[in-house]
Amino acid sequence: MTFDRSIRIAPSILSADFANLGAEIRAVESEGADWIHVDPMDGHFVPNLTIGPNVVAAIRPHVKTFMDVHLMLSPADPWIEPFAKAGADLITVHAEAGPHLHRTLQTIRAQGKMAGVALNMTTPLATLDYILDAVDLILVMTINPGFGGQKFTPAIVDKVRQARRMIGDRPIHLEVDGGIDPTTAPLVSAAGANVLVAGSAVFGGGSVDRPEVYGANIRAIRAAASASP
Ligand code: DX5
Ligand code: ZN
Repeated sequence: MTFDRSIRIAPSILSADFANLGAEIRAVESEGADWIHVDPMDGHFVPNLTIGPNVVAAIRPHVKTFMDVHLMLSPADPWIEPFAKAGADLITVHAEAGPHLHRTLQTIRAQGKMAGVALNMTTPLATLDYILDAVDLILVMTINPGFGGQKFTPAIVDKVRQARRMIGDRPIHLEVDGGIDPTTAPLVSAAGANVLVAGSAVFGGGSVDRPEVYGANIRAIRAAASASP
């Protein structure tokens, strides 16, 4: 069976109403989200502090699709088990977040979860050379992590293309995160990305009372990603 590289739109709940996360998740899922992207941050690895395993466990019952947890914290190792137990389906760690990336990825898989590795914009692709068999997803950051609503970095499109080439036929998803909207989505999908994280471009302008805006936003990103540039 060939690996399914169809486009997944993964709304980042960083841009959702934090007082209403369960309803926000249900709204974007019923409006077409493929995955739910969650962004724990520690105020140390990145200059922002967001959510921990307790919140992930609380929202888990509301996620009917797939929970994609992007850890922006270091060291990452002590947090693998708590986020796994909280119900993540996939845990992504930053390559920069610990000294033994291979061990960290093995720890994630030992918890029965899919393992992802994220690369900051200045982190070279060569970081992946010896771990391709240990990952289920590669996340190429298209901004400096820490906040939603930042501007996409066009120079990273070529890095996405090279990452796609490295992946070849391996069953590895290629995800991008930061500044993805209907304008930038075709650039990264043409370069080979198949999981598109979008925070402000999904939640912007909508609310749980106006979920149709989320639907229109998701459809616009998906249509742009599927059109040849
Ligand atoms: C930022 C997070 C992103 C963020 C993306 O560090 O990893 O997932 O929510 O937000 P947008 O899509 O608004 O750039
Ligand atoms: Zn993220």
